[in-house]
Amino acid sequence: MKVTAIILAAGKGSRMNSKISKQYMQLCEKPVLYYSISAFADSDVDEIIIVTAAKDIKYCKEEITEKYFSSTPLKIVEGGNERYESVYNALKTIKADYVLIHDGARPHITKQIINKCIEEVKKTGACITAVPVKDTIKKVKDNTIEDTPDRKQLWQAQTPQCFMYDLIKTGYDKAMEKNDKSITDDAMVVEKYTNTKIKIVEGTYYNFKITTQEDFEFSETIISKRDK
Ligand code: CTP
Ligand code: MG
Repeated sequence: MKVTAIILAAGKGSRMNSKISKQYMQLCEKPVLYYSISAFADSDVDEIIIVTAAKDIKYCKEEITEKYFSSTPLKIVEGGNERYESVYNALKTIKADYVLIHDGARPHITKQIINKCIEEVKKTGACITAVPVKDTIKKVKDNTIEDTPDRKQLWQAQTPQCFMYDLIKTGYDKAMEKNDKSITDDAMVVEKYTNTKIKIVEGTYYNFKITTQEDFEFSETIISKRDK
């Protein structure tokens, strides 16, 4: 049973407001993307696909994959303008039984969570890692609260998001056929276009996505403490 990881690194990082895309910023002397590849390389996945922008393929190869992961089965694929296009490009190029889709902007993912996800997806066919929300969440319109959903039912979706290959590919085929532009994660595709229930694998709060400057600062602290 072949398990393939797709690591997404084709975003522009507009909310980060930096010249270099966030996945290539230097975090404790290595590019952000290095850390998630490293966790997957140590895990039970059989193959890693990195999705990045055409202009970054050379850098990614020379400064990351050939430099640190020369003995890991790994391929680089060109991404698209939106996250879902990047995922779809990767899905179209692979042959696998299971896929784990991960944001390259989440450097604190661990081999332990990845392996827990692999075990679960082999049992259930679909799972994502997530954590319960800590704050009370408000639905807001025009700067005014409309509703307060029950916090006990709310979880923050993270990645990896893991599926049987045929399931996620069929879901994406349908979403792309419908030209659905609302997709922000992979579970959504399976929820909207298939009848499959998706399990939650409880993750950790460390596995946040670097989105804005302060996330980068927290990440530096986490990694320098871990390396001590
Ligand atoms: N991603 C991608 N292809 C895209 C857009 C996003 O591969 N066209 C990747 C990003 O590189 C990131 C992950 O998907 O690892 C999650 O996306 P997000 O945090 O939104 O990153 P960006 O789109 O780069 O950031 P922003 O939305 O602030 O522009
Ligand atoms: Mg984005």
